[in-house]
Amino acid sequence: MAYRVGIVGATGAVGQEFIRLLHERNFPMQELRLLASARSAGKTMTYGEHTFTVEETTPEVFRELDVALFSAGGSISEKFVPAAVEAGCVVVDNSSAFRMDPSVPLVVPEINAHALSEHTGVIANPNCSTAITLMGLYPLHQKFKLRRFTAATYQATSGSGVEGMEELQRQVESYAKGETVKTEFYPHQIAFNLLPQVDQFLDNGYTKEELKMLNESRKIMGLGDMACSVTCVRVPVFRAHSIAINAEFFEPVDLEEARQAIREFPGVELLDEPAQAQYPMPLDYSGKNDCGVGRLRKDMAFDNGLAFWVVGDQLLKGAALNAVQIAEKLHEMDMLRVPAKA
Ligand code: A2P
Repeated sequence: MAYRVGIVGATGAVGQEFIRLLHERNFPMQELRLLASARSAGKTMTYGEHTFTVEETTPEVFRELDVALFSAGGSISEKFVPAAVEAGCVVVDNSSAFRMDPSVPLVVPEINAHALSEHTGVIANPNCSTAITLMGLYPLHQKFKLRRFTAATYQATSGSGVEGMEELQRQVESYAKGETVKTEFYPHQIAFNLLPQVDQFLDNGYTKEELKMLNESRKIMGLGDMACSVTCVRVPVFRAHSIAINAEFFEPVDLEEARQAIREFPGVELLDEPAQAQYPMPLDYSGKNDCGVGRLRKDMAFDNGLAFWVVGDQLLKGAALNAVQIAEKLHEMDMLRVPAKA
């Protein structure tokens, strides 16, 4: 079986990774259509020897597709995903629009691929920081049973799309030339700075991004009453997120068992040699499929606690790679089709 595949948001930072990953991983495609806004219609994009003409996203195009990977923001997903599914096209959606819908599986394939068997046409890809955090946290939960955690994120500008990365580049260049640093996209200068705000603030003082970590972690791990408190920070890094985590478990923790659990988990590697200054860093994990875990130690504040550091490429495990893995898994399960309504 080879599929007719569409990418919605193909000109964006995640969209471009979709194109590369689908080709590099030999996803079974008979056709690839690149979709974006009317502004990009007619532009050409190349990958290797392939040249594509970008098309405007319309509800009609999905009649000609078997599967669509969406990464064009929540409002575009809200507008087109229902029409796509109605037209018989399975959607893997990278936006937050459907993640908490009880009828939509929210999946990190290494953790809860089983949830895919319940899909009704849409599968949600998790928030980038959540997916990367869980690649380190879930293997430890399997071993020691997670009770709650706190975390601080160090989120790259790629999470804000092409415009965020371009603003960082522009500001660094202006600074180096001794020119005035202009801020156009973020609320404050991002170069040489940290912004303790990712997404909008809510009435309780947390941001939407911080609550995504709570709600999505619960849903993915199937832990309805697990608690977490997170501070999300945008940092002047191009494309890999880092997360400092302090987790408390129900069962006593053992450091060697914790290390072994990380080593054995697919999609993650242990890089934890503090004496040699070896730990995961965003520059080293940019462009890498696997996430890295390091700085693993017993937590001094929590009983049965572990403190650790996880790093992963925001555009890959945090977005495009996870979505393509979902599509691959559905293909493997022979479920890459919209099921007939009951
Ligand atoms: P376009 O380049 O035509 O604006 P990023 O998050 O990296 O900035 O990418 C956002 C993606 O979402 C881009 O591919 C962008 O296309 C796409 N997009 C924005 N608005 C729309 C729209 N109205 N319909 C379809 N795609 C859209």
